[in-house]
Amino acid sequence: MTLSLSGERPDPPETADEGVWLACIECGTTFAPFEAVRYTCDSCDGLLEVRYADLPTFEDFEGRGVWRYADALPFEEGVAIEEGDTPLYEVPTIEDETGVADLRVKHEGMNPTGSFKDRGMTVGVRVAERLGVDRLACASTGNTSAALACYGARAGTEVLVLLPAGKVAAGKVAQASLHGARILEVDGNFDACLDIVSDLAARGEAYLLNSLNPFRLEGQKTIGLEILEQFRDQTGEFPDRIVLPVGNAGNTAALYKAFRELVASGALAPEEVPALTGVQAEGAAPMVEAIEEGNDEVRRWEEVETRATAIRIGNPVNAPKALPGIRETGGTAVAVSDEEITDAQRSLARDGVGVEPASAASVAGLRKLRESGDVAADEQVVCLTTGHLLKDPDAAAAAGANPEPVPADTDGVLDHLGE
Ligand code: F0G
Repeated sequence: MTLSLSGERPDPPETADEGVWLACIECGTTFAPFEAVRYTCDSCDGLLEVRYADLPTFEDFEGRGVWRYADALPFEEGVAIEEGDTPLYEVPTIEDETGVADLRVKHEGMNPTGSFKDRGMTVGVRVAERLGVDRLACASTGNTSAALACYGARAGTEVLVLLPAGKVAAGKVAQASLHGARILEVDGNFDACLDIVSDLAARGEAYLLNSLNPFRLEGQKTIGLEILEQFRDQTGEFPDRIVLPVGNAGNTAALYKAFRELVASGALAPEEVPALTGVQAEGAAPMVEAIEEGNDEVRRWEEVETRATAIRIGNPVNAPKALPGIRETGGTAVAVSDEEITDAQRSLARDGVGVEPASAASVAGLRKLRESGDVAADEQVVCLTTGHLLKDPDAAAAAGANPEPVPADTDGVLDHLGE
């Protein structure tokens, strides 16, 4: 089965619960959504997707934040602390310099815990409550752990997070710590952490809230829905392209699913779907490799390295959902260097938008694709920035200006300023 934009609407199976069910994207087997804990297909181990009998149109959306989109989600409400409703900024300097027709930045760093992960957690932790599990867990490059710790605390449930030792930005560890998660620092990279936590989940030790969990991606769909509505409010049209950083490829998969559902409901024409354009760091670019080489499968990179630690990932688990998303929407993928990422981080800051390095990858990628001509000058583009500047204070300080020591008197300060 391929995940296409054709707009087909399957009939609900008998296992559906109030019009919601799970389906395997590989073999099509369907499952009841809330009867048992399940992350992948029982028959073929393929990725699962949440399906709905009723698909939303724009008229169905009302209220604010993630739960404005309840008609596209499995519940009416979740474990919520006002996630979503993030700003879509103009960035005049970068727009001028890249020379696209319109450029906006969707700043997901403005969510409660400072990243887009909150959108997935408000749904995922609600599902965990429904399933009655007593321990939540994730592997993380940092942001997932911060969000899970926060939403787990809010739900009163124990949280266990596995982090690659020494490779998680300070702000994120601090968040997971203060929200009361138990933090295990693993002597290995993120992919090793995810292998372990998936094993723990399979043994029934914890409920997995990585983006392998199909319900997380439902919450993250709302990034795409919000972008369409905000961009249309600001410009009268939908964007031609959305450029986003890629790690596990959860967002790429989630945005594609949001658009497929709008196409299936008749709310969006297939040609109105924005081209999904993924950006990875050169030292961790297995998705870019698969797109460039035309492969259906993504090769796992055992060694990965980048300053953008949030996307220091060699085995993007959502690739089977995300590759069709990039291809079917006419998008592409590109790798950028750490220097290009830091340059883009500085440019965003100059336009008033403070982001962590992984987020700036989207702008670095857009620059590169403009130079190569893959993105045209008449395009209307949204770059997704996924996490706040304060997540990684060390990277921000290294990219920015150095503090200058001065004496504790006004004349001394003026002397120093050379005035
Ligand atoms: N940007 C930031 C700031 C992230 O934290 C992540 C992923 C991504 C981009 C990539 O998103 O996985 O949907 O392609 N962070 C995960 C974590 C892996 O553990 O916090 P994706």
